[in-house]
Parts: sequence; C-alpha cells; structure tokens
Amino acid sequence: MAVDLLLGLQWGDEGKGKIVDVLTKNYDIIARFQGGPNAGHTLEFDGIKHVLHTIPSGIFHDKAINLVGNGVVIDPVIFKKELDNLEKFNIDFVSKLLISRKAHIILPTHRLLDAASETAKGKAKIGSTLKGIGPTYMDKTGRNGLRIGDLELSDWKDKYRSLANKHESMISYYNVDIQYSLEELEKEFFEAVEALKKLTFIDSEDYLHKAQQGGQTILAEGAQGSLLDIDFGTYPFVTSSNTTAAGACTGLGVAPNQINEVYGIFKAYTTRVGSGPFPTELFDEDGARMAKVGNEFGATTGRPRRCGWLDLVALKYTVQINGVTQLMMMKGDVLSGFDTLKVCTKYNYKGKEIHHLPFNIEEENVSPIYEEVKGWQEDLTQMTSEDQFPQNFSDYIKYIEDFIGVPISIVSLGPDRKQTIIRN
Ligand code: GDP
Ligand code: IMO
Ligand code: MG
Repeated sequence: MAVDLLLGLQWGDEGKGKIVDVLTKNYDIIARFQGGPNAGHTLEFDGIKHVLHTIPSGIFHDKAINLVGNGVVIDPVIFKKELDNLEKFNIDFVSKLLISRKAHIILPTHRLLDAASETAKGKAKIGSTLKGIGPTYMDKTGRNGLRIGDLELSDWKDKYRSLANKHESMISYYNVDIQYSLEELEKEFFEAVEALKKLTFIDSEDYLHKAQQGGQTILAEGAQGSLLDIDFGTYPFVTSSNTTAAGACTGLGVAPNQINEVYGIFKAYTTRVGSGPFPTELFDEDGARMAKVGNEFGATTGRPRRCGWLDLVALKYTVQINGVTQLMMMKGDVLSGFDTLKVCTKYNYKGKEIHHLPFNIEEENVSPIYEEVKGWQEDLTQMTSEDQFPQNFSDYIKYIEDFIGVPISIVSLGPDRKQTIIRN
C-alpha cells in the first residue's frame, strides 16, 4: 500500500500546504486530488512565503514529482501566474510537474457565471472565492466540460466556443449587472493555455498505478476542508468537490484499498472564510485576538477569516468520515496567553444535548456547549521538542487525543517549515 493521504478536517486553511512541504522529503510523488484555485496553500522557508493555488505543495523540493490529478479544476490563467512565480525561484517545473488529461478546465465564463450566481443570491450568497469552481464542476457532472486532454486535439477551440456561448446566455439569464470584456479575458486565457501546453499531460491514473507497482511512495494532497465537502459539509455553504478521503480515490484513480495513512490536519481553534454556519464562532475580543495573532486572512482572496474555539463535535465527525489515522495540530502557538480555553464537546440542538452534526446546523438550531481547559502563557514558537512544552499545552493535546481517539503525530508552532514538531 503506497498512497498516504493528507486533508483538512475543518473549513479549510488548516495548514495543509505547510505540512505537505514538510512531508515531501518522504515521498516520490505529491498528487493534488480535487478543488482548484479556490485553494491557497502557504509554505514558508528561508524567510520566504509562497502561496500555491493549483500546484501541489511539494514543488519546492528537488526530487518529488508533483501531479495535478483528474479531480482538480484548472484555470490556465491562474496556473500560468503560479508558473511565472516558480520561474522566479528557478524551480524546474517542466520536469517535475505533470497534469492529468482528465482534469477539467475553468473558462473565463465559468468565473463570470460564479459572479452572476453569487450576485443573484444576494444575502444568501455562498461567499465563493469567485474562481469559477462551482460552474466548472457543474459542467463536469453535466458532461459538457472541457478537459486538459482536449487541448491536444485540433478542435478544442470549437468546443471552447460552444461552451462559452452557452455560458454567455446563462449569464444573461441571471439578469444581474456583471461588467466584462470577453475579448480581453479570452486573450489572456488563450495565451495562458499556450503556456500550459509546455507541461506534460498524462493519463495520471495509469501513471500512479505503475508508480505504485514500482514501489514509489505517493502523498495525496487535499484542498479545502471536510466541512466544505459537497456531500458531508455544511451544505449549501460548501465547495463543489469531495474534499474528504473518498475524493482522493475519484480524484486520482487510486483504489480505496491502496490508501494507507490518512493524515488529518486541524487548527488548535477554528476558522472559516465565506458564509455559512459556524457554531463556535466568536464575535468578541477572544475571536479578534485569534484573528490578529493567527494572521487570519484568506490566502486566495485576502478576506478576514472568522475565528472561534475548537469544535470537537465537528472534528470527531470529520475524523470518522475520513478514517483519519494520524492527526496534526496546527497553530497551537496562536493560543498562548489565554488564561482558559474553551472546547466545544456537544451541541444544544433545539433544547436537547446532541453529540453529532445535525442536518440543520444553522445558528438558530445549534449552540455549542463548552468545557474549559487551562491555557498557557509561554511563547511556543521557538520550541524544538515536546519536552519544552508547558504542561497545560501538553494537557490540551492529550485532551483532544482522548476525545477523538486518534494520536496527534505532528504539532506545528509557526508558519515556517522548521517550526514543526514530529512526535513519537
Ligand atoms: P492551507 O490552505 O490549509 O494550506 O492553509 P493556508 O496556507 O491557507 O493557511 C494557513 C496559514 O497559517 C498560513 O498563513 C500559514 O503560513 C500559517 N501557519 C501554518 N501553520 C502555522 C502554525 O503552526 N502557526 C502559525 N502561527 N501559523 C501557521
Ligand atoms: P484551502 O485549500 C478556505 C470556501 C469559500 C466559500 C466556499 C465556496 O486554502 O483550504 P468556492 O470558491 O469553492 O465556490 O467557495 O468555500 N473555500 C475555502 N475556504 N480554504 C479554502 O481552500 C477554500 N476554498 C473554498 O470561502 O465559503
Ligand atoms: Mg488556504
């Protein structure tokens, strides 16, 4: 069994990019399995911060192959910008980056449709990143999409044109004021497609199968978080792909019985960007403090992230759905200085205590029930081993492990690669 899987257990931005970068030295291939440039994965080393949107987070290592799987949706324009940025750091992406022929392409009109749909929803908007994710996955499941492999065929522009025409009539259906020049957007799009074509397109499920047979090790990188999963998240305030473990099977063509470790990443508190229910959200100075110390701004849109206490009911649910075998706790450093911390261990649901995520998780139905644990005052960011941890921080880790029933194998104490403690 050669495929390990890494995914976010909350509403995204748990620190997946950082940990994939830390773990890449143990793998031959890093393969992204879903989502698109709605993701923003941050890596920090040598004093430089990098943000990746579509390209897997192993790209800064010399040896690993980075594969964009069939489950991913690719915007050539954003992809090209990512490549341009890698070029500045002399990263040889041509030999290290492979793209599945079956990955779907985000058209400029998909982005416009996203904007039209969100505008039409008014107050009920999802809070989408407006990268065209929903409309592109709709065309995929509606069997109208344009795929990377189409770019190798001579008639791809005809396919493009009929799809873009359809989108334009859909945009007018929404009857909202969206200003755009399709001519300019297309110029940028067609140029970006040419840049993309310099990369290698492959039948990635076949490639991964052969790699496994040859004994190569593979890490599947997720995007977003399990509570944004199209099936199991806080629908309709979710993204349009399966962000949970099953998404790695469909998004890469890896068989379920080939998956070995499932690494689940969570923050020591909770954040969410965009709209939708968030039972432990804070509107007070504690929340403001998490946002400030944790620098909680979206890596893709720059929007402030909503912050709140750790929700163990939600975490237990996502651990269960994903079959998580190891937990990784991020941003414990951000909680230094609180006298007491709260953790949500059950919900009050319409007057009754419950221990699971109900169908109607909206604020008017659900309120969190907290237990309090002791905080710690020490700065954790320079600590290099577990025996330096203040007792109350060790107790916080133990409390979570006991509640969830899965060990925490990595504790992250800062954005840098080096601020990572691997536990025994
Ligand atoms: P991703 O989408 O899951 O890859 O996460 P993001 O990159 O969107 O957001 C995580 C943010 O937290 C980034 O700015 C990281 O640099 C930062 N970060 C990651 N781990 C830690 C940590 O342990 N402590 C602190 N303070 N920041 C962290
Ligand atoms: P990473 O991979 C956090 C959120 C958006 C919005 C909802 C739907 O960096 O963790 P979409 O653009 O998919 O239509 O938006 O999902 N969202 C994310 N939130 N991190 C992400 O990715 C996200 N990708 C999408 O804010 O609420
Ligand atoms: Mg992010």
